[in-house]
Amino acid sequence: MDQQKIDVLLSIKVWDPKPWVEGLSQSTYINQVHLWPTEADLSQVSGLFVWKPLDEGVVQKLPNLKWVSSLGAGVDHLVNDQQIPSDIPVTRIVDPFLTRDMTNYCIMGVLMHQRSMQAHWQNQQKAIWNRLSYSSLKVGVLGLGELGGHCASTLAQLGFEVLGYSRTPKQLPGVQCFNGGELKQFLAPLDVLINLLPVTPHTVDILNLDLFEQIKEGAFLINVARGNHLVENDLLLALDSGRLSGALLDVFREEPLPSGHPFWKHPKIRITPHVASVTTPQSAMQLVLENTKRLIEGRDLLHKVNREAGY
Ligand code: NAP
Ligand code: GLV
Repeated sequence: MDQQKIDVLLSIKVWDPKPWVEGLSQSTYINQVHLWPTEADLSQVSGLFVWKPLDEGVVQKLPNLKWVSSLGAGVDHLVNDQQIPSDIPVTRIVDPFLTRDMTNYCIMGVLMHQRSMQAHWQNQQKAIWNRLSYSSLKVGVLGLGELGGHCASTLAQLGFEVLGYSRTPKQLPGVQCFNGGELKQFLAPLDVLINLLPVTPHTVDILNLDLFEQIKEGAFLINVARGNHLVENDLLLALDSGRLSGALLDVFREEPLPSGHPFWKHPKIRITPHVASVTTPQSAMQLVLENTKRLIEGRDLLHKVNREAGY
């Protein structure tokens, strides 16, 4: 094998792998692009690029594996996968398009709620002229990382009162930042709560009745992070009691959301099928190729995940 090139394996479900196969095949750093499932000899593969989950037994076929990259921002599908040896670095996608698209989705969710767009469209069906009022909102963002930080700052620039919560202290212009033991203070005044946390043992099930009872009555929930953050039955209880006024959900414990799931027909729940922000291959590939170059040159990889922390 050419010493300046590596073989890579793509394991992509849900998305079309074609742009990745075509784009990576043109790189001068890559010798061969394999696409899982394959019967080919994978013994020279050193980079494994995954969107998710990884089939059982894949890693066993990769004796020269040196690096695993998620092709999305989230890495929950990789950090919990026992197949990947603990000394193999795992990286993830941090990309301006991914960040922009997530922020835009969250702004859309906040504005649709603030301006009662659903009620206006229902009124239109019946030719009803009803000038519904609207008010200023306090918006809270759980998680102030690449996505949450940008979302919170942008909402602040748009004139919303914005609060944010993270594990460690943060400073963001226009955002009142909370951390650690300050969850209660963060939640209390919120009209809208946006979840942009990673799933870790500390954040799984964090969107539960106990949390909903700490937010202002009638608040609106936007969950764009992961379905495992939300205790589904607790959301139903909170909506049915009026504790929460509604929810916009993009992610679910089981995806696709099963056809008989109560969320589909709930009048206070709006659903999108995990499309809040979808990796743009042409843009994210630049990062994957930069890391390929770094791997070849023996340099540190960008956007490495702390596997112990889980994100
Ligand atoms: P990130 O940069 O790793 O940021 C994570 C943030 O969460 C950080 O601010 C971190 O705090 C905070 N955090 C982690 N554990 C916490 C805890 N126990 N308590 C309080 N805060 C905690 O991640 P990201 O790139 O912003 O992505 C966030 C998530 O969005 C991804 O993991 C993925 O699940 C989801 N996502 C969804 C879609 C979609 O289409 N629906 C698309 C992309 C991503 P510190 O800053 O103090 O470390
Ligand atoms: C999408 O869910 C991502 O994590 O990029």
